[in-house]
Amino acid sequence: MLPDRSVFPQDFTFGVATSAYQIEGSAHGGAGPCHWDTMAATPGTIADASNGSRACDHYHRWPEDLDLIRDAGFSAYRFSTSWARVMPDGVTVDPEGLDFYDRLVDGMLKRGLAPHLTCYHWELPAALSDLGGWQDRDTAARFADFCTIVLDRLGDRLASTATLNEPWCIAWLSYFLGHHAPGLRDIRAAARAMHHVLLAHGTAIQALRGGGARNLGIVLNFETAQSADDSPEAARAAAVQDAIYNQWFIRAITGQGYPPLALEGLAPHLPDGWQDDMDLIAQPIDWLGVNYYTRRLYAAGHGLWPGGEAVPGPLPKTQMDWEIRPEGLTEFLVRLKTDHVGSLPIIVTENGMAEAAGPDVTDDPRRIAFVGDHLRAARAAMDQGVNLRGFFYWSLLDNFEWAWGLGPRFGLVHVDYATMARTPKSSWHAFRAMLTP
Ligand code: NOJ
Repeated sequence: MLPDRSVFPQDFTFGVATSAYQIEGSAHGGAGPCHWDTMAATPGTIADASNGSRACDHYHRWPEDLDLIRDAGFSAYRFSTSWARVMPDGVTVDPEGLDFYDRLVDGMLKRGLAPHLTCYHWELPAALSDLGGWQDRDTAARFADFCTIVLDRLGDRLASTATLNEPWCIAWLSYFLGHHAPGLRDIRAAARAMHHVLLAHGTAIQALRGGGARNLGIVLNFETAQSADDSPEAARAAAVQDAIYNQWFIRAITGQGYPPLALEGLAPHLPDGWQDDMDLIAQPIDWLGVNYYTRRLYAAGHGLWPGGEAVPGPLPKTQMDWEIRPEGLTEFLVRLKTDHVGSLPIIVTENGMAEAAGPDVTDDPRRIAFVGDHLRAARAAMDQGVNLRGFFYWSLLDNFEWAWGLGPRFGLVHVDYATMARTPKSSWHAFRAMLTP
């Protein structure tokens, strides 16, 4: 069951989130190749060998998709702009790309949906990736130029702007674990990316603020890291992962410096003079976006830093094999308030679950239970003083789930990839019953 709307304040925002590469169809409308296209062209990198070239064909079907958001009673939509669509070679603007987002934002306003922009949700133009991508310091300055160009066009109509989505994924998952584009497994590349994404964020915030933009923030992901057993090795493994995942970014952004446990392994590989960037990285922000899905258990591992090994936990799991643990959301929100951001407004910018479609593709009771439990967990954090302002479900549609391909279904709305037909699931109807009078 979803909670009653009245459990949340009147001005609390309910929305849905998507991202460009996952839904638009990167083959449409003149977008340049991005590093996900490169990755997907490499055999063995995407579970079902799919890619984002068609995705949900949102590029053509966006009016129907915006109708679905409005009709479920949501008042806000979190979307992203593809860098490779706006600047196909990473530096030269393609007016067709900006025109698309211009129409999209107007379409939101026409339907009473507040546009919440994420500038970068992972489509690094291949031309920039080939130059080193996030390992390269210049990418930060180029990113600020990209954000400035986007905001020059859309900024007058946006409710909020985030620079980056999930820098842990942009840097660690992509350059150290190798699961996301560009698929590197290189501690030195990862350390540089871990720093340069933050430099990109700070540089962009400074440029956007200088241009008069308001309500600027960033979207970070948090995942509970716990030890799988009582051994000191497991405790240490979990603590190191917590530092890399849950502390690196928020500490730097809030001027608290990089966490010592992560610096133990990363400091030798950071670019020279990184300390001089920390003030720029710690630009004031107006709100923090929190993506929360799951926890992970760590056991002692072997090998080089950071050591440790993720092991399966005992809790019920989603289609991603991610444990379902709603109380982790309460814990993170309270921890963020206490340790990092105080009364800064926080928005849950993503929470949701993947669930395989059954014979009746609209029947998704587990998703309704998942969302209800996480909404109650969010409310519990508010009762403990967290300044939480909104909740965005991930995602409106089933879509391209990166290295997992089209298999995992996160949507409130089912997508038939053969016909592109959209069918609202019972979770969509549950939101509608909650949000519409
Ligand atoms: C985080 C990412 O922002 C989004 O792109 C992804 O699809 C969801 N989580 C689910 O994994």
